[in-house]
Amino acid sequence: MGFIETRQDITASVKEQADIVKIIGEYVELKRSGIRYLGCCPFHNEKTPSFSVHGPQQFYHCFGCHESGDVFSFLMKYHNYDFPTALKYLADKFNIALPRKKVTRKEKEREEKLQRMYDVTEKAARIYRQQLHDEKEDGAARLYLREREIPEDIQSLFQIGYAPAKEAAGWNFLETRLSSAEAEIAEQVGLLARGEKGGRYDRFRDRILFPIFDAKGRIIGFGGRIVGQGQPKYMNSPESPIYNKSRNLLGLYQQREEIRRSRKAIIVEGNFDLISLVTHGCTNVVAPLGTALTASQIRLLSRYSEEMILLFDGDEAGVKAAVRAAPYFLAEKVHARVALLPPGHDPDTFVRQKGLDALQALLAGAGDLSEFLVEHLIQQHGLTLEGKSRIAEEIKPLVTAAHSPLQRSVIIAHFADRLGVDPQRLEESVSSEENGAQRMKEVARPQQEREEIRLQPLSPAQKRLAEFMVMNPRYFKELEEKNLRETLRGGVGEILFLQIKMMTAANSEVQPEEIFSALPEGPERNIVADMLFNASRSDFIGSAADQAEEELQELLEWLDGQNQRNLSRSLTLQIEQAQKENDFVALEKLLLQKQTIEREMRGYGE
Ligand code: CTP
Ligand code: MN
Repeated sequence: MGFIETRQDITASVKEQADIVKIIGEYVELKRSGIRYLGCCPFHNEKTPSFSVHGPQQFYHCFGCHESGDVFSFLMKYHNYDFPTALKYLADKFNIALPRKKVTRKEKEREEKLQRMYDVTEKAARIYRQQLHDEKEDGAARLYLREREIPEDIQSLFQIGYAPAKEAAGWNFLETRLSSAEAEIAEQVGLLARGEKGGRYDRFRDRILFPIFDAKGRIIGFGGRIVGQGQPKYMNSPESPIYNKSRNLLGLYQQREEIRRSRKAIIVEGNFDLISLVTHGCTNVVAPLGTALTASQIRLLSRYSEEMILLFDGDEAGVKAAVRAAPYFLAEKVHARVALLPPGHDPDTFVRQKGLDALQALLAGAGDLSEFLVEHLIQQHGLTLEGKSRIAEEIKPLVTAAHSPLQRSVIIAHFADRLGVDPQRLEESVSSEENGAQRMKEVARPQQEREEIRLQPLSPAQKRLAEFMVMNPRYFKELEEKNLRETLRGGVGEILFLQIKMMTAANSEVQPEEIFSALPEGPERNIVADMLFNASRSDFIGSAADQAEEELQELLEWLDGQNQRNLSRSLTLQIEQAQKENDFVALEKLLLQKQTIEREMRGYGE
């Protein structure tokens, strides 16, 4: 009894009521095709639909990218939800009461503590915003924003504020406007710093402040730019319980709807680039928070758009930033393009001087990021044997960033193709620790010379057995007793056998979908996905039980036959042995056994 059981029940009941066709239909245009629905896959770029959704089995699968799962995994993948969030989302949607999770006192305290932090950052933002208003029209801060052509409405959209200089407001501008409890918290989120003598003072002084919002619109920190020239140009909030700079993006909260609508997100590097673009009507923009783009940021952004364009400076730093970001995009399976600005420009100066149309043209011409990366590496190292192996070295981190074997092979295949080397060799080179001259030559070895290593394909009989075993796990024991494992040995079938053995041992009523869900991404999982679809296409649903029984008998007989053939083969060997050793007693016994077997075998036919 207890929570676990309730949760399993709830999960099952939510899955039952949350029609997968309806749910996915909210994100993908689905057309009925026989028993399933087809649409363009939301997880990879495609023009012809290969994404199929199956109602009765509550299951989706993409024949293009092999993404598959149930309604939960769809939402988890699409929105980057964790499981509880997906469950809650569906439960809310279908009015299913979730058992109230007991919030421990500790959790509750933590939540309250975080809320007090949000309250303080919110209040500080209001204070700084008010301060900007209170500054003189021709004061440095307002003059600077005017100089940079940031209009009032944009300043207000981003809640831009100003932290006054110590000459004007002393060292305790913020603290004097907070209660002592609030000041305590302001220190925890880094708005106030503590000096050597123990007193608190303002972290931000004489800076234009950009509040940093999380995706829910809570203020989690600030970025502060110096007014005009000076060092350091930026001062940012330190990380805190509410602020993680690698998991948030500047501008995402404000521009999320624009990003969703345009299905594209433009990524710029600077805070001012961001607001300048928005000012000029290029509104689907975000910026990282003063660090290189991270995988978490890409994942976050991919909840809002399927395509991203890096708009970076054309100098070496910009190229480097794009090259560095490439592995993360590949690993997150996000289609990214890159547009580099002409020399001497950043996005802000470019849009101000050349205008929105020129910017849009530049964006429209943005090239594929992985293509850009290959070009860049080829330019740098050339396509000689040595060049290729250097490139192989450079893409190592890229390959290790892959989050699944499938993704890994996609990346490998991409580069192997572009470099004209054998994928298998490239894989070996990339996985090896050493990188001597020997390796280099091997990587560059031409296609024809290679010996391919492949997964043993399933024979038709193996395929039928494996499929039956997956679709009817309740008969697993009977099949196992007939030496099923022996018949499936050495391939994907055996892996599936072991998986199902484990699962049926724990739960005699395992469902095919559960087997699917339990498998890691890879060939086994893809095979099971295809099986589930084949099964759903054939109209077995009506008389499933009878038909399965019948098929079981057939397969058991086939396995019997198989076992007898094996036994007969082994008897033949033993007979030869006994003859050699002149062991007539054994020989007689063996011959008798073989006779019996052969008689039986004839009964089944070959
Ligand atoms: N940055 C930072 N600390 C610095 C310099 C930069 O955190 N010392 C971060 C800021 O988030 C900044 C981004 O890196 O926005 C890009 O730097 P830059 O292009 O110099 O910033 P802009 O905001 O574009 O500044 P400006 O156009 O005013 O020079
Ligand atoms: Mn800039």
